[in-house]
Amino acid sequence: MQEASLLKQLTLAVMSGQVRAAQDPHRPGWHLAPCVGLLNDPNGFIYHAGYYHLFYQWNPLACAHGSKYWGHWRSADLIHWEHQPLALAPSEEYESHGCYSGSAVIHDERIHLMYTGNVKYPDGSRTAFQCLARENARGEFDKLGPVLSLPVGYTGHVRDPKVWQHDGRWYMVLGAQDLELKGKVLLFRSPDLHQWQSLGEIAGSGISGLNDFGYMWECPDLFALGDEDVLIFCPQGLAAEAERYRNTYQAGYVCGKLDYQQGQFNHGAFHELDAGFEFYAPQTTLAADGRRLLFGWMGIPDQDELYQPTVNYGWIHTMSCPRELSLRNGKVIQRPARELTALRTVLFQWKGSADAAPPLRIDSAEIQLEISGEFTLQLADAMTLEWDGERLTLSRKNLRTGEREFRYWRGSVQQLQLLFDRCSVEIFINNGEGVMTSSYFPQPEPLAIFSGNGELRLRHWLLLSPMLE
Ligand code: FRU
Repeated sequence: MQEASLLKQLTLAVMSGQVRAAQDPHRPGWHLAPCVGLLNDPNGFIYHAGYYHLFYQWNPLACAHGSKYWGHWRSADLIHWEHQPLALAPSEEYESHGCYSGSAVIHDERIHLMYTGNVKYPDGSRTAFQCLARENARGEFDKLGPVLSLPVGYTGHVRDPKVWQHDGRWYMVLGAQDLELKGKVLLFRSPDLHQWQSLGEIAGSGISGLNDFGYMWECPDLFALGDEDVLIFCPQGLAAEAERYRNTYQAGYVCGKLDYQQGQFNHGAFHELDAGFEFYAPQTTLAADGRRLLFGWMGIPDQDELYQPTVNYGWIHTMSCPRELSLRNGKVIQRPARELTALRTVLFQWKGSADAAPPLRIDSAEIQLEISGEFTLQLADAMTLEWDGERLTLSRKNLRTGEREFRYWRGSVQQLQLLFDRCSVEIFINNGEGVMTSSYFPQPEPLAIFSGNGELRLRHWLLLSPMLE
């Protein structure tokens, strides 16, 4: 469809929808959310010339996955964000069914976007083009068209380019499905972002000790962290286990070493990045000070999305908080980006037995806990967190079935940091050893209520709600 026509539809959706969306009591105060419609993956996360840029998968026209646009925000401090001109609308034949996920790099001082043009045919088949777009002087993006069509040996599910520079050349990983319907990650190299040479499969079902590991891998991201190369990806098709892989699809990583000459990646075991109910399609970038930062999507495709109550207000889903990554004993550690401490207001401190702890307001709040002994934390009427000395259990009522559902983190819990924002909870365990990220929809003025005879030392702050302008 012509770009002008798409933009008219989008403008109407925003004009007629944003007042209602802004009135939603579950609208977040400091997490990024779409002004209307559906948000999914973080895209094109990059730091350039004093600003973080974050693009996002966006269907402005409905609370459903459809033909995706790229929205665009920027921020100097990861706290105050401002809208930027819409980056991409799916107007061309090579992206007729969506400008799907991708990444950003800086080339010739300008942001370049590499994304997937998704094309579906009436017979149900599909193809994908990896496409390039370049920032112009108005902060808009000029499309340069496809630079890679579907590689031989794969189905139409080849997408989500993540591009980076190494030793003066560009590298790209793509999520893919081979003709035997196995999930893979493909590596490519280019001198100029236009000509891409395949270096083959670097990871996937049947490679480097992974047996059957899903029918499709989405959203790969490969980067150096400490002494390791970390490959993040989202496998689809893993069977649920008692305490792992309980979401419809997973987001996780393997650590190893990428041999850039041979195009080979030897890696260790797969670990989930998150043990909560909603976390998917994370993407990282390098900050000016060398930190590896990450945003994830607080949603899971096909996981009861449309039962979330924000749909009644014409919007759905938010980003996670920005996080900084490090490596500890071969595992990825995630902590809230240190910039977020600027959101804190007055500190309240308390120490004693969980049973005697005061209820705490959690609309938009942070709680830090040092723990010895068992306790239960009731999060308004919407969620329960329980520590029984062996595992942490997060539970809630499923929005579709009404049945109780559970997620687990097993280990020894000494410390917790909980971030709340009206429709989400992010629980960081032992300074980032584990995370449980979830959407939740509490009643107005929600309270956290402790019980149990464990000893707690707690700190609590209400958090500011900076404007998204
Ligand atoms: C992940 C994903 C990507 C795709 C995008 C489409 O959530 O399915 O693989 O590019 O969303 O919106």
